[in-house]
This record gives sequence, structure tokens and C-alpha cells, in this order.
Amino acid sequence: MNAVTPEPTAPPVAAACDAFARDLLAALATRPRRIAPKYFYDAAGSRLFDRICELPEYYLTRTELTLLQARRTEIAERIGPQAEIIEFGAGSLHKVRLLLAALDGPAAYRPIDISGPFLRDAASALQRDWPHLPVQPIVADYTQALQLPPHRGPGRRLGFFPGSTIGNLAPEAALDFLRRAAAVLRGGALLLGVDLVKDPSVLHAAYNDAEGVTAAFNRNLLVRANRELGADFQPDQFAHSAFYNAPLQRIEMHLMSRRRQQVQVCGERFEFAAGETLHTENSHKYTIEGMQALARRAGFTPLAAWTDANRWFGLHWLQAPAMETSA
Ligand code: AVI
Repeated sequence: MNAVTPEPTAPPVAAACDAFARDLLAALATRPRRIAPKYFYDAAGSRLFDRICELPEYYLTRTELTLLQARRTEIAERIGPQAEIIEFGAGSLHKVRLLLAALDGPAAYRPIDISGPFLRDAASALQRDWPHLPVQPIVADYTQALQLPPHRGPGRRLGFFPGSTIGNLAPEAALDFLRRAAAVLRGGALLLGVDLVKDPSVLHAAYNDAEGVTAAFNRNLLVRANRELGADFQPDQFAHSAFYNAPLQRIEMHLMSRRRQQVQVCGERFEFAAGETLHTENSHKYTIEGMQALARRAGFTPLAAWTDANRWFGLHWLQAPAMETSA
């Protein structure tokens, strides 16, 4: 059996905590107040996100899984035997199981995620089911420059970025990510799941579920700040606010102060007016053509795009350039 080997350059917990403190303090000191959604994903946040994926309103996961299932043979043929799989923002590693089962003798699986303990647990569980597959979790922020171990052949490299996580990046940052991915995957391909622009009422329901799991996910940012940074947020004094911003083609999530209040973070005090928000996430939606245009700018060649009958979700097959590109 191959041991699950953690990436040696994983940042220590204290350093990750410092980055959270630094970014939260900067967010609270500026207007509008805005923090990167990556801080949702401590262990509790990762579990809440898994629950979101099961919600009846959150069609994204189900629809993407159906697409993967329907296209698995075609995907396996396109990438060929003994491919090395790199998953970006891997989370609980559910979707890749479908892919691994369909591929012809994958050579290695390298999931990258920022949430170290969660990733290692998920990788160990996957390793039990694929005992002969080298599984090498990499704890890293895939939105930053990536240092990957050397390509494990003899097949091609397949990048897997499901879940429309690319939509959590601003379009310029998504382009930067795609450029870095094109370089890392050269000679291979990227299988990219992207949520499509659609009727705003469907989107609204997906981010305002009846059970309140998305609200708890959003507020978990404050719970985490209290636990890790000794902050004194009262999470129930912040309302979950999620709405579709049509001109920018994105769902915005905010935490809205229910009243005038003060909070303390790392010894500094900040005031929230009633109705003032901390902007916690954007979830950009794309047309098929819009994402293909972005991918082309990054150096990829879009070769296929599959959608469901409702046209709610898109799965893109993007061929990476053969040579490293400066595009
Ligand atoms: C991870 N990401 C693609 C999810 C999304 O839909 O933007 C995160 C999420 N936020 C609220 N619900 C789910």
C-alpha cells in the first residue's frame, strides 16, 4: 500500500493563523470590507460545505456529478492511460472517485487543498479504496504560485478543477490561475466544472437554503475568528446576505451587521454600523463561451463543453499547450 505522504512544504498552523489575522484586520480596516473566501475552510467550514453540496437547492454538485458520470468514458479516452491527476481545491475528494474509477490505470493522484487536516483525512480514506494508487496530498493555496513535484508518468497530466470553485475568483484572478494551470499541465488537459449564468431565482435559492446551512457556513468565518484569533464577534448579530449581482454575473455573500456594534480582533476595535457588511464571497457565473474565451487567453484550447438538459452547469475539456506558454 502507498502511504499518504503529506507535502513537506505545508505551511505551519501558526503561519496560516497569522495570514488569517493579517487579512481579517486589513478587511476590517478598509471600506468596503472584504475578505477572501478561502478562510471559510477550516475543518468545521469544510464539513458545512459538504452539507451544502447535499442540499436540494444546491444543484451544482448533483448536476456536475451527473455530467461526470455521463461523460466518463469520453474523458478517459481523451486523457489516455496512466495519467497523473492533479486536483485543485480538492475538498472531500468525492468527485474524483468517479473519475479514478473510469480512468485507465491512473499513475498518481495529487489533490491540492488549503485545509490540511481535512485534506489528509480525505486522502487517507481514498487511499484505503485505491490501495495501489500513489496518493500525495499537497496542502497549499492553489491560487498562489504552485510548486508541484515532478510529473509522474508515463501518461499525461490531467488537471481536475470541479465544483465551479474557479467562480470564487475574480475573473482576472481566474485568468491568472488558468495561466499557471496551463504551464503546470502542459501537454495534458484541464477538466473544469463551471456554474452557468441562469435564472436568478434558481441561484438565489441555491445560496439561501431553507435549512440555513449556507448561513452557518458564512457565519463560521466569525466563529473561526473567535476561536483562532480570540476575536469577540457575536455571530448571531450578523445576518447572512446572499444575492445575485446581475451586471457582474455573480452571487455575492455578505455578513450584515444587524445593529450598531463593536468587535475586537487581535486587540484592535472596529465598529459596524447597522446594515454594514463584511463581503465574504463572490461566486461568478459564466456562459460556456465566456469561460472558453478566458481559457483561450490563458493558452488553453477548448475542445469540448458538456452541459445538462437545463443548461445549469458546464464541464469543460481544455487542452493545455504542448510547450510552456507566456500567454
Ligand atoms: C466552493 N464554491 C464553488 C461554492 C460556491 O458555490 O461558490 C462555495 C459556496 N458558497 C456558498 N455556497 C457554496
